[in-house]
Parts: sequence; C-alpha cells; structure tokens
Amino acid sequence: MITQDLVINTLKTIIYPNFQKDIVSFGFVKDIALNNDVLAIRVEIPSNATEVINTLSKEINEKIRALGISKLNLDIKTPKIESPKKAATRNLAPQIKQFVMVSSGKGGVGKSTTSVNLAIALAQSGKKVGLLDADIYGPNIPRMLGLNTNKPEVDQSGKKLYPLKAYGVEMMSMGVLYDEGQSLIWRGPMVMRAIEQMLTDVLWSELDILVIDMPPGTGDAQLTFAQSVPVSAGIVVTTPQKVSLDDSSRGLDMFKKLGIPIAGVVENMSGFICANCGEESDIFGKGASKELASKYNTQILAQIPLETKIREGGDLGKPVVFFHPDSISSKCYMQMADSISSFLKRVKDENLADNKDIQPIHDHSHMH
Ligand SMILES: Nc1ncnc2c1ncn2[C@@H]1O[C@H](COP(=O)(O)OP(=O)(O)OP(=O)(O)O)[C@@H](O)[C@H]1O
Ligand SMILES: [Mg+2]
Repeated sequence: MITQDLVINTLKTIIYPNFQKDIVSFGFVKDIALNNDVLAIRVEIPSNATEVINTLSKEINEKIRALGISKLNLDIKTPKIESPKKAATRNLAPQIKQFVMVSSGKGGVGKSTTSVNLAIALAQSGKKVGLLDADIYGPNIPRMLGLNTNKPEVDQSGKKLYPLKAYGVEMMSMGVLYDEGQSLIWRGPMVMRAIEQMLTDVLWSELDILVIDMPPGTGDAQLTFAQSVPVSAGIVVTTPQKVSLDDSSRGLDMFKKLGIPIAGVVENMSGFICANCGEESDIFGKGASKELASKYNTQILAQIPLETKIREGGDLGKPVVFFHPDSISSKCYMQMADSISSFLKRVKDENLADNKDIQPIHDHSHMH
C-alpha cells in the first residue's frame, strides 16, 4: 500500500547534492499526489546546475521505483535566470568568451581567495582561464599566485602588456605594474581608465573565461566592467554572520541593477576545519546564506570552510586547490567550478549575456 507517508519517508533519505540535509527537511518537496497509479511529485530546488538536477532526478526515480511505483511524474523546478535589463553595449576584450565577476558587499570576506582557487579549478577542468585583479587600491592576487615580484613583458609596439601566468591561469593586476608597498591615490575616472586598460592593453589569449576579482563594495569598478564587457555571471562571496548577509544583499542588488545574471552565493568561512584533528566545527554558524540565496532566486554555489591551508596558500602564493587537491576546501572549489561552468553554459545557450547585436570594438589604436 503506497501512502503519502511512505513516499515522504523515502524522499527523506535523499540528501540534496553537496549539502548535508535531505530534500524534505530543506522544504524542497512541494507536492505529492497519487492519482490512479500515477505518482506526481513536484520538487523546487534553488539551483540551476545540471549536475544537481540530474543527480536528484536519478535518485528520486530509483528510490520511488524501488517502492514498486512504475508511473512517476517528476517535476523538478529550478530558478529562472533573470534576463539582464541593461546588457553591456560593447566588449573591450572580444577575444574573451565569458566574464565572471566575483564581488561582495564587505571587505575581507574572501573574494580574492575564492577568485584564485576558482580560476585554477576552472583551468584544471580544461578551460582557458584568465584572472583580472580589479582591486586597484589593494591588489592581492599577485601575492596569492606567487607573482608579486614578477613584471609583465611589453610587446614590440611598446604599448601592450603580456599577462603573467601561474598554475595554468593568465593574470593581470595593478600590483605587478607598481612597486610593492607603493600606495595608489587615484580618483574615480582614473580607476575607470585603469580597468579599461587592463581589458584593452593586456594581450589576453583567446580565453573561455575571465574571472574578475572585484574590490569590496559596490562602486565605480563594478559599473565600469558592466559597461565595458558582457558579464555572464556574478558571484557574491559572504561569510555566514548576519551583518555580512546584509552587505551581501547590496552586492546582489548591484548585479540586478547592472543586469548581470546572478550565478550564486559563496558562503566562505563556513565552519572550521581543525588543522590538528581535521574535525569540523561551527564558528560563525553555517548555512545562513540559504535565506539570502532563495530571496534572490539563486543558489549557494559553495560552502567553503575556514581552513588554515587556505590562508597559508594565499600568503605563500601556493593556492590550496593546486597544492592540496584532496583537502575539503579544494573539493568545494572544484565543485564550485563545475557549477559555474554549467551556469555559464546555460547563460550562453539562453543568450542572456552574449555578444549578439553587440559590435565588438577592435582596438588597434595602440598597435604600431
Ligand atoms: N576559507 C578560508 N579559510 C582560511 N582563511 C581564509 C579563507 N578565506 C579567506 N581567508 C583568508 O582571509 C583573508 C582575507 O581573504 P581575501 O583577501 O581573499 O578577502 P577579500 O574579500 O578579497 O578582501 P578585500 O575585500 O580586502 O579584497 C586572507 O588572509 C585569506 O587568506
Ligand atoms: Mg581582495
């Protein structure tokens, strides 16, 4: 005898991919109805990732069929990717296929760390990847990649620069154009010019993805990028505390205003992994960004624990994804890279932020 309780209990054994809770406890199961011998189940999940949808669909099918139900009508609803209202009208770097912006409302939450490890994980998955450090005032990426004493090469014309390269990722940053420790006092319009130059005057290869590590907050730099290139995915990094979430709302609002498709939220420093015993404990709490993600109809891309190896990797220029691929945090970054790839594919397929109707500007003015 098939009862609703039996179905619910069965669904309770299905863990939502990459999380610790089951789909019933998360509240994702919205409707169960048995009509004649057809069982209809409606599930609403906060993710667009194809892997998540496929894994879930396969497991639900298997477990329901194991109950002896042969006619299952499974409906998995996913959030709509909202269409940008204001797409970029130009692409200053037309040889780059897609742009991913990593942002946050607040400083020090781990944007640069996330950008570095995400970029390397994407490169390891076979993509051609670049990393642009858009933090003009406090560039940290060179150190995190161990490139802080390197200087970029100038091309024959003397006007363009080759990006630096580390761990399979091309990189450019104001930090390698100026001496370390030298502070920059620049005003708004110069920030815009600097960003434009990092797109036009750097000889980026034909990249699949350029990851852009943004400065904290929601200022000029974000607007400049949105107007200079078609950004396909916006990521907001947050920590689990409540105050940080308020700031993150501003980050997500900014993406909406700029017409940047929201790929999701990264909850960084989510739980603590003890360097001695490897055990995990909650420091700032965990999972608080779920509310934020659902409010903006998006997904949690990753929950990255607070782990000493991550901080050391940043300080020593030896990113955790490259040097400790088996660590918990590296697995989170790799999983995140997969989700971003799926998201980018969807954005491309649905033409949400592509270059159609956009005349690329081939800027040869500095050549020869
Ligand atoms: N998950 C983590 N575990 C351990 N340390 C981390 C983690 N994430 C970031 N850190 C450390 O926290 C510090 C701040 O991180 P990061 O520089 O990436 O933040 P940010 O958001 O880019 O900061 P800013 O706003 O200044 O650009 C760094 O020392 C980094 O190594
Ligand atoms: Mg930073």
